[in-house]
Amino acid sequence: MSLELTQIEQNMLAGEHGFAARKSMEILVALAKIYAADRMIPVSSVQVAGVSYDNLGDAGLEFIETMADGGGKARVLTTLNPAGIDIQDWQRLGVDEQFAKKQKQILTAFARMNVITTCTCTPYLAGNLPHYGEHIAWAESSAVCYANSVIGAKTNREGGPSALASAITGVTPQYGLHLTHHRKPDLCVEVTDKPDHSSEQLATSWFGALGKIIGQELERKAAKHIPLIRGLPGASLEELKSFCASIATYGGVGLFHMEGITPEADLFEHPPDILRIEAGAVDQMAEAMRQITSTEVDFINLGCPHLSIKEIAYIAHRLEGHSVNREFWITTARTTKQISDMMGYTQIIERSGVKFAADTCCIVAPIKGKYHTLATDSAKACYYGYAKNAFDIYFNSLDDILNLAIQDANREQSA
Ligand code: F3S
Repeated sequence: MSLELTQIEQNMLAGEHGFAARKSMEILVALAKIYAADRMIPVSSVQVAGVSYDNLGDAGLEFIETMADGGGKARVLTTLNPAGIDIQDWQRLGVDEQFAKKQKQILTAFARMNVITTCTCTPYLAGNLPHYGEHIAWAESSAVCYANSVIGAKTNREGGPSALASAITGVTPQYGLHLTHHRKPDLCVEVTDKPDHSSEQLATSWFGALGKIIGQELERKAAKHIPLIRGLPGASLEELKSFCASIATYGGVGLFHMEGITPEADLFEHPPDILRIEAGAVDQMAEAMRQITSTEVDFINLGCPHLSIKEIAYIAHRLEGHSVNREFWITTARTTKQISDMMGYTQIIERSGVKFAADTCCIVAPIKGKYHTLATDSAKACYYGYAKNAFDIYFNSLDDILNLAIQDANREQSA
């Protein structure tokens, strides 16, 4: 199958739109050839990953500056994945000045390319929200899974350079999840287990553990699968973002169909193969993920993926009037924090001793070696906290982690 380019795409490739457009089209043409795409399709939204200086290093910084110097300009709405620092509050989080300088250079280069420098893995909560059926080019794995499976937009999981290339050209090669016949489910997952909503407002950790079970089962089958998940009573946005982050981390899943959630779930026949998740399996998995006891925790993080305003409101409600003595970060998009500021949630949370880290996260921030044991409700943070930052992990529900933070302080006060 040969690749056909439109006149404007050919002109970009020939360098008529400048260096950055040529480089971008070269990246996309190379991808199209690898995946046997026969054309490019327009995208309406881009999300670029690979933003933290911790991941990019000097070579990545140089690439982004070269693209900015080469006249690269985003043609479509483009936002970024979390940066290595909270650009407005990095000193308070103890980030090295040299690191902050390099991170600012990266964000400046993106801004020169008309990229909106809000840095979040939940772009759909920060104004970058495609609609059903829209073709987009997103890079963050949890957001890709959310866009395909919850919103019903269409994206492959892009790398940092290919996402930036799509921002600059406004197109992506048509292959993979952009094609309807590649979006068919090929395995049923029957879930008879249920989250216990009576003890927990938001069952984020339960959905994270479920994502890990299904993701690992799919990995074991060693073929790329698109599961159709049946039997769940429903799920909130927060539970779905946790589930998406987990199933993408442990199973490389870019699209699932969930009955009652995924807009396309009824379009396809149910596949015959069935994987069953029996009652109690998710709690067992959650227990197995809790490597250590709570007394060893020296760092608490909530916000992987970035917290919604509903989660922040709940945390403010739970922390009001308490003080917390361990290092505790709330990670969220700056735009979400601004709503929190406006509502007074930030003041309540900060008064308790908890810090906001906006537009960054506990995985891409340069904190390896600073803390040893991470408490989190995120299955994805369990994986990367250990793999990237060598943290021991205390995995538990949102409520249990808040209880841990509060009880700590209460115990000290009464001693
Ligand atoms: Fe987001 Fe960082 Fe977690 S990018 S999904 S908070 S690892």
